[in-house]
Amino acid sequence: MSLPTEIRNYKVPDRSLALWWFGQNGYILKTPGGIVAGVDLYLTDSCNGLQPGMNLRRTVPILIPPSELDVDLYLCTHSHQDHTDPETIRNLRNKDTMQFIGPQESCRIFSAEGIESSRIRISYPKCEFEFGDLHIRGTFALPTDDTDLNHMGFILRSGASGAKVYMTGDTDYTELLFEAAKHSPDVVITCINGGFNNLSHWEAATLVGKIKPKVAIPCHYDMFPDNSVDPKQFRAAMVLRAPDVQYQELDYGKPYLFSF
Ligand SMILES: [Fe+2]
Repeated sequence: MSLPTEIRNYKVPDRSLALWWFGQNGYILKTPGGIVAGVDLYLTDSCNGLQPGMNLRRTVPILIPPSELDVDLYLCTHSHQDHTDPETIRNLRNKDTMQFIGPQESCRIFSAEGIESSRIRISYPKCEFEFGDLHIRGTFALPTDDTDLNHMGFILRSGASGAKVYMTGDTDYTELLFEAAKHSPDVVITCINGGFNNLSHWEAATLVGKIKPKVAIPCHYDMFPDNSVDPKQFRAAMVLRAPDVQYQELDYGKPYLFSF
């Protein structure tokens, strides 16, 4: 059975969220009501050669080619190519049935790749959307360079009071990130690579210690040879900065069920 079919068939219990990782900041989430949402799916090798002198060849296998992706919602946290990938979007077979959500610069790319305007929604910190039993809230993120000033994160919640996952997106370090604590996320998924002004493993562990979720998941450390770190550094930093939070490293393409 193909992975998209496996995801569609996967039964998610009430108040839970299921999560699959595809490398970097790419995830698919599924709700008990059957809503399937992709976030920052990078399903090509389009960054390869983007920066002369930098090795940005993808190292994570493409588990779902864009033409086979089957999601109801396609979310992006900002417009950098490892998050809003024009080649992935161009090759989506089901783009006429998906809703596309992202900040302004990502929406510009959605349009340029032929997504009709009625399927595009602009997101921003504090925005809220409901799709079936998936609740989406935008969160603040600090831009990492001057090419896109519309970075953001998302808190995705199952139903009215189910599991909540906070994804930081790419962000520089600022105490404003601690504001996400007021939404009491159960799971925090955070970048840890430190490169290009993203949170370092130590900053990410400090953030997790302030937010105090039940589980913290590292991401954005694995895709490119020239932008990789060992996630064990984040795990070790959590021992000191977030000792009460469970560290969880994900495997690619496997379901993780979060029920609280
Ligand atoms: Fe990134």
